Amino acid sequence: MNPKKIVVAYSGGLDTSVMVKWLSEKYDAEIIAVTGDLGQEIDSAALEDKALGTGASKAYVVDLSEEFVSDYCWKALKAGAVYEGQYPLATAIGRPLLAKLMVDIAHKENADAVVHGCTGKGNDQVRFEVGIKTLDPELQIIAPLRDWEFKCREDEIDYAIEKNIPIPITKEKPYSIDDNLWGVATECGELEDTTNSPPEDAFQITVNPKAASGEPEQIKIIFEKGVPVAIDDVELSAAQIVKTLNEIGGRNGIGRLDIVENRVVGIKSREVYEAPGAMILHAAHLELEKLTLDKDSFRYKQNVANAYANLIYDGLWFSPLFEALTAFVDKTQETVNGEVILELYKGNLTVLSRSSANSLYSKELATYSADDEFDHKSAEGFIHLYGLPFETMTKIKNSIGVTQ
Ligand code: ARG
Repeated sequence: MNPKKIVVAYSGGLDTSVMVKWLSEKYDAEIIAVTGDLGQEIDSAALEDKALGTGASKAYVVDLSEEFVSDYCWKALKAGAVYEGQYPLATAIGRPLLAKLMVDIAHKENADAVVHGCTGKGNDQVRFEVGIKTLDPELQIIAPLRDWEFKCREDEIDYAIEKNIPIPITKEKPYSIDDNLWGVATECGELEDTTNSPPEDAFQITVNPKAASGEPEQIKIIFEKGVPVAIDDVELSAAQIVKTLNEIGGRNGIGRLDIVENRVVGIKSREVYEAPGAMILHAAHLELEKLTLDKDSFRYKQNVANAYANLIYDGLWFSPLFEALTAFVDKTQETVNGEVILELYKGNLTVLSRSSANSLYSKELATYSADDEFDHKSAEGFIHLYGLPFETMTKIKNSIGVTQ
């Protein structure tokens, strides 16, 4: 079905720049470029000009940075969602919001198709398309990178040069970079060989820990219901909090990751991430949960964190299970209030102090000093009952002569 009006998810990077031109040559349709600013410091006037100059008839650049952090990143933070134990999911958390933006603008503009610039082997196509289908099953989805004639990025670069499309990368620095406030993801180039350690130019927002200042920096983060609200006693908006921590963390070499990960489609990929703000916040938030959550909730929540991270990674943000787990997580966060002081030093993040009005820590119970109020005798009965099934089991085995 040939669309009449299409909205294109546009970033101004290599793929989407080439795509707008390619679409204008392939379809007799009105093209509307849409960019969601998730805090990546977009020069919106320049980007709009670029989109219009490449073949779009209209360009939207929508600032979503506050919504992104407060409605998307904070959910992941409260859940402790980190994929495969390491990746704070920046790109993955951004996609559902961008999918929603595309659907909203398609409705506003009465467009019949949505186009995205994701490749046919990555996660983002899954996240975008499942998100769009869930929000509006009637919209047609076009993914030029799965269909077009270009075999590799070099072909796209050649096409861009031929068509006079300004592109941000060269054949010498061929990284694919995706960034938002929650983190930067960098792949391609030398990184595709897992035996290469990442070149320094693969990092965008952090200094090398070895080159970071010799002076440690301290920061205090205040949380309310699992969400950070102030840094060093200054109340800040959601986006400002992450931006501030990205700067402080970045200059101290915090937040670099070099990972091989399992994609949704089963391919393994190697990527370099920088997420200073997200990693500082996860560390501080976890510390506060250790103080304020009861043992069973804390342990159970670790499983939820893993399930939640997988759902986000797998593009299932708008799913019933995600919604149900969000309700669970929100319930646990009612007492996650208080403050954490951290020290940042040459890539290391150390918790110096944690305190909360909802703290479940009792010094009188924990102490080994004379102030000890714990009744040590009660442990005897506890252990007797707790170990009884195993003691019984061994006695029975011994009596019938079973050795293991
Ligand atoms: N592997 C990450 C994910 O799937 C990031 C993907 C985008 N990376 C990029 N460099 N363009 O969430």
